[in-house]
Amino acid sequence: MKQEEYWNSVSEKKEFTTPFQVGAFSKYVKRDSRILDVGCGYGRTLDELYHNGYHNLIGIDFSKGMIERGKQQFPYLDLRVKDNEKISLPDASVDAVILFAVLTCIQTNEEQKQLLTEIKRVLKPQGILYVNDFLLNTDERNLTRYAEYKEAYGIYGVFELPEGAVCRHHDEAWIKQLLKDFSEQEYSHLTFTTMNGNQSNGFYFIGQFNPS
Ligand SMILES: C[S@@+](CC[C@H](N)C(=O)[O-])C[C@H]1O[C@@H](n2cnc3c(N)ncnc32)[C@H](O)[C@@H]1O
Repeated sequence: MKQEEYWNSVSEKKEFTTPFQVGAFSKYVKRDSRILDVGCGYGRTLDELYHNGYHNLIGIDFSKGMIERGKQQFPYLDLRVKDNEKISLPDASVDAVILFAVLTCIQTNEEQKQLLTEIKRVLKPQGILYVNDFLLNTDERNLTRYAEYKEAYGIYGVFELPEGAVCRHHDEAWIKQLLKDFSEQEYSHLTFTTMNGNQSNGFYFIGQFNPS
């Protein structure tokens, strides 16, 4: 199944759960900042920001279903369908980018790097990137599925869910490499409850963009 189709197929029912640390975010991002949520789903993080006094917000997602649900649920949010690899915004036009549980949907290092390249294009120098995502686990259930799918996908930590999603749990060294153009302001390990109700290792990262 194409991943876009999967996210459309669950757009009416999935609840996303990775926590937004508004206290940490607000230390680095002022209330009038222009904020872009990449892979915003139905917009629950932007809604939280909105109710914390941030009103200059844009959300983009490649799933039409997610965006439609978000428009119904939060009609005051600016939510847009992202219809190709490009982000339809000018260079250096946003103060902060949020990327929550999106890397987990992108299997290859190359595609993750491409998304980061687009994010760095639209983010202003010294802008803020706030990422959260999943890290590798060591419990039996995860070890079994990482081993089962390693050959098919060529990356340890990528696996399929029975419902059709392909997910990735990340090696921390890769995450640090991917985010190397951002000077780390905060990095913490967390335990996340996944969208299917399981526990997983995860992290959140807040970094400042230093264009090279
Ligand atoms: C696990 S959900 C998280 C949604 C949202 N960030 C949140 O935390 O509530 C992942 C979302 O990323 C979107 N997505 C995955 N890959 C994407 C891509 N390459 N471009 C845009 N959206 C993408 C999916 O459609 C889905 O809505």
